[in-house]
Amino acid sequence: MDKIVIKGGKRLEGSIPIAGAKNAALPLMCAGILTDEVLTLENLPLLADIDTMQNLLVQHGVELTMRHAGGNGRRTRTFALSTPDLASSLAPYDLVRKMRASVLVLGPLVARFGVARVSLPGGCAIGARPIDLHLKGLEALGAEIELDKGYVQASAPNGLRGGDVVFPFVSVGATENLLMAAVLARGETRLINAAREPEVVDLANCLNAMGAHIEGAGTDVITIKGVEGLHGAVHPVIADRIETGTYAMAAAATRGSVELQGAELDALPSVIDHLMRAGVEVEATDGGVKVSADRIVGVDVMTEPFPGFPTDLQAQMMALLATAEGASMVTETIFENRFMHVPELTRLGANINLHGRSAMVRGTQDLTGAAVMATDLRASVSLVVAALAAQGQTEVNRVYHLDRGYERLEEKLAACGADIERISG
Ligand code: EPZ
Repeated sequence: MDKIVIKGGKRLEGSIPIAGAKNAALPLMCAGILTDEVLTLENLPLLADIDTMQNLLVQHGVELTMRHAGGNGRRTRTFALSTPDLASSLAPYDLVRKMRASVLVLGPLVARFGVARVSLPGGCAIGARPIDLHLKGLEALGAEIELDKGYVQASAPNGLRGGDVVFPFVSVGATENLLMAAVLARGETRLINAAREPEVVDLANCLNAMGAHIEGAGTDVITIKGVEGLHGAVHPVIADRIETGTYAMAAAATRGSVELQGAELDALPSVIDHLMRAGVEVEATDGGVKVSADRIVGVDVMTEPFPGFPTDLQAQMMALLATAEGASMVTETIFENRFMHVPELTRLGANINLHGRSAMVRGTQDLTGAAVMATDLRASVSLVVAALAAQGQTEVNRVYHLDRGYERLEEKLAACGADIERISG
């Protein structure tokens, strides 16, 4: 297994190109199931999760051609997807268990072909993560749902019909699955208490470019008027706001100054607010966002659905706050077990005490390198953020977690002066 070795204490200075958003690209690829014409997706990141989704879609019968694109130092991929017919309605356990986002084929398969057999995702490192909201929503649109040997058997032989879907709490994936189900349903659907994340808006924009009639994306009530069928489109994937926030926190942790090329400020309102209150300077530039810091103070953070502070940046922010002057209370309200990074950060000298869903972080300027273990995608990168600030050498093991969500991480950081090396093992 590969590991990453970092000699910390170097200020990050320079610029980092921000890739297309993983969490927008994954549902957008599933939207390719909805049409027999060609959906072209541009600015796709080069990530393991995108490859996993590609493998899943191809076995369903999605025809997918890829070409590399890029320019000004960025490598991106363009996919052309179309689904002339269904080869298999089965999303098998061995693929779904690798990546929870695989369940996003459920809505499109039922909407277009009236049938889907999708493995339940099972738990993962950050929690149980059921899909009950996805299933109840599909039933509200007329699908018949059965659970059978760990699989969801969904059917709508006469197609789906519009209706109201009220989510008891916000779910990004359930909102996306139901969006893709409703676009071909007969009549009007309202998604109430819908997720407002930029990735949901990006999906709605793409579906509308394909001929759907969606209004209200980005608010908590989304209205969809079903249509007979969708045509092809060309859609660029939005920039990855989580990658943007991650590198902003890495720059601040080293008290450096980095321009995040292609970053979109309005995708991170709460993060920018917290960073500025912690002492980080954030300014819009022609090409993106410039982040610099020379003194960091503690701030309290509570994760919430968009536009609140994103749970996917909680671990990275905790690593930054571990280097601050003063204390910070970090509260995780979205997932029940998203503090796997705490014991590992503690090995680097961080002073963190857990109290249920909250962590009290007392900042120190004396983080020191050690061997640490990555556990899940965002926890892994928080160890990298802390290691960049720590004195001495840190070894981050099991970096395959990183490859799921961060493209060429060591290359991008090394280009800004980090002493970082990937060692194949
Ligand atoms: C998406 O996951 C993201 N993944 C996650 O990013 C992100 O952390 C999460 O949204 C919250 O913002 C992708 O977009 C591919 P949810 P999703 O449904 O859709 C519970 C990363 O690091 N829930 O909004 O699975 C669930 O267990 C990943 O890139 C139910 O109980 O998240 C969780 O506690 C990690 N029943 C909470 O709701 C359901 O039917 C929010 O989950 C659905 C969800």
